[in-house]
Amino acid sequence: MSERLEDIAAAMVATGKGLLAADESTATIKKRLDNIGVESTETSRRDYRQMLFSAEEAMRSFISGVILYEETLFQKASDGRPLTEIIRAAGAIPGIKVDTGAKPMANFPGEKITEGLDGLADRLAKYREAGARFAKWRGVIAVSDTLPSYSAIKANAHALSRYAALCQEAGIVPIVEPEVLMDGEPGDHSILRSQDVTEETLRITFEELADQRVRLEGMILKPSMVIDGKKARGASIEEVAERTLRVLKRTVPTAVPGIAFLSGGQSTEEATAHLSAINALGHHPWKLTFSYGRALQAEALAAWGGKPDNVAAGQRAFVHRARMCSLAAKGEWKKEMESAA
Ligand code: 13P
Repeated sequence: MSERLEDIAAAMVATGKGLLAADESTATIKKRLDNIGVESTETSRRDYRQMLFSAEEAMRSFISGVILYEETLFQKASDGRPLTEIIRAAGAIPGIKVDTGAKPMANFPGEKITEGLDGLADRLAKYREAGARFAKWRGVIAVSDTLPSYSAIKANAHALSRYAALCQEAGIVPIVEPEVLMDGEPGDHSILRSQDVTEETLRITFEELADQRVRLEGMILKPSMVIDGKKARGASIEEVAERTLRVLKRTVPTAVPGIAFLSGGQSTEEATAHLSAINALGHHPWKLTFSYGRALQAEALAAWGGKPDNVAAGQRAFVHRARMCSLAAKGEWKKEMESAA
């Protein structure tokens, strides 16, 4: 495959394909495994992820790339092959989460700033050597009546842009992820509030990207959808789709090849329905696809339950959801398709 950033970015958002976010930190994957009564060990984390990456049909047809946590990038499957080799053998691209987490921001109670810039150039060289061709950095923006502050948006946008510039210099496509939280506290904000905050966040993010001379053709944006808070959910699928698209049109230059949404706490089916509705609204200047974590994995995780006998069932669940998301990325998903399966 070509190693130009533009070509890697285009492959990440190829028609009908999207990204599998499997980059849960050790603390986050432990919560997911706790939920199904499985102890989180290096081996159980490996087994779970190996199950997903070996679901050939999903990986070959619907998944363009996988965002990995550092442990997984260097991990071997039970047969000794590197997990990255399994991903590549299916025609998908390995990627890596490189931020070191969102930490409380000094002087800004309730807000966070993402860390991980120190030494990042050296780490990126090591990750590229290990096969990663794209990276991810997530900034989180809390929403309440009074938050976010301008300073928190600005600081997170600046860090995202410094990260993106370093990635491009290292021959790695940056996924720029400014997440406006739907499931933070208090979580009762309206969709109008989400629209305002998302618009301001994206506007400032692209200003900072320009300041850092980031090449828009060689990056992917990973935004949250415009959606009301988790404790207020009530906006229709159409309203989420229309407001999301309106904000993107106002803020995202058309030089950006693709936008891959996070699911952010939406249910599996909501995330699928929203993506399909957005794509059904017409021809858009960028590809609009998925980069889901929870919404792609929840059913597979439950079907697997940590039991070797259930690997095939877990893979079936993953293939189904990946197929539904692929249809959504083309605006072709219908609710009946869920029950038909
Ligand atoms: P969710 O789709 O579960 O929000 O995860 C995507 C992701 O990569 C968050 O950083």
